[in-house]
Order: sequence, then C-alpha cells, then structure tokens
Amino acid sequence: MILNETSVAEIKEKMVRYPRRKSAILPALTVAYHQVGHLNDDIYDEIASIIDIPAVEIAEAATFYTMFPKHPVGKYLIQVCHNISCALLGADSLVHYLEEKLGIKKGETTPDNVFTLITVECLGSCASAPMMQINDQYYEFLTREKVDAILDELRKQA
Ligand code: FES
Repeated sequence: MILNETSVAEIKEKMVRYPRRKSAILPALTVAYHQVGHLNDDIYDEIASIIDIPAVEIAEAATFYTMFPKHPVGKYLIQVCHNISCALLGADSLVHYLEEKLGIKKGETTPDNVFTLITVECLGSCASAPMMQINDQYYEFLTREKVDAILDELRKQA
C-alpha cells in the first residue's frame, strides 16, 4: 500500500459528500498527491479499490490535469504557463530565466530535489500574465525580480 491510513480515511470521508462516487475522483487524487507528491498506476489502483471505480477512470482523470505530476518531482513544482497571454508577455523568456537560474532544463529537477520546472497550458489567470503556479500557489504579473524573490523565499523554506 502506498496510501497511508490518514489518506485512506480522508478519501472515504470525502466520498460520502458526493451522491455519485465518480465525483470523489478529483478529491481522492488530491489527497494522494498531497501525501505522495506525485501519482502513478499503483496509486490509481488503490484509489479505484477505495471508491470502487475502474482504475482506468481514475487514470483518465489524473492524466488530464497537469497539476498532478505523474513521476517524482522536487519539493516545489514550478509550472510556467506558456499559452497565448503569457507567451505574449514573455513566458518563453521567463522559462529561460528559470532554467538559467536553477541550472536545469524544462522537465528537470534540481540535484538537491528542491525545484522541478515544467511548462503547462493555460492556468486560467490570463489577465495576470505572465504567471506560474508553484505547488498550490499562483504567482502573477511576473518579472525577473519577482522570480528572484520567490525562489529565494522558497529556498529558505526548503
Ligand atoms: S495564458 Fe497564461 S494563464 Fe492563461
């Protein structure tokens, strides 16, 4: 078992809130992600047996959302939006700056396992472009100076 007792109990507690079991898929994936830090086939199987839905449906939901990494990532998952609004306001340059600053390429994790950098599709914050999401937090109207301050702060907490 990958999911611990607390996560299983939390998933069961969320299940009873919904009239349809399928509605508990995303809350269950969120619980698993918060415990493990990423998702995989074994986790889909465990969730499937808890909420009694085929694992393929759990996997379908999980793979639709970039907010759930499907392999181990660093403590902080940096997701830079590269869709049109963010692209027009410098997302590419922002990604290059992050690559340079972190010493990694897009899709990689820093050797100390603190930061993973990826690009994602629109995060629904187009009016605040360019923006990125780090774990559950949005960072908007980004500049290089803001990125410096954000990474410095996160490094202190790492
Ligand atoms: S285009 Fe970046 S948040 Fe929508």
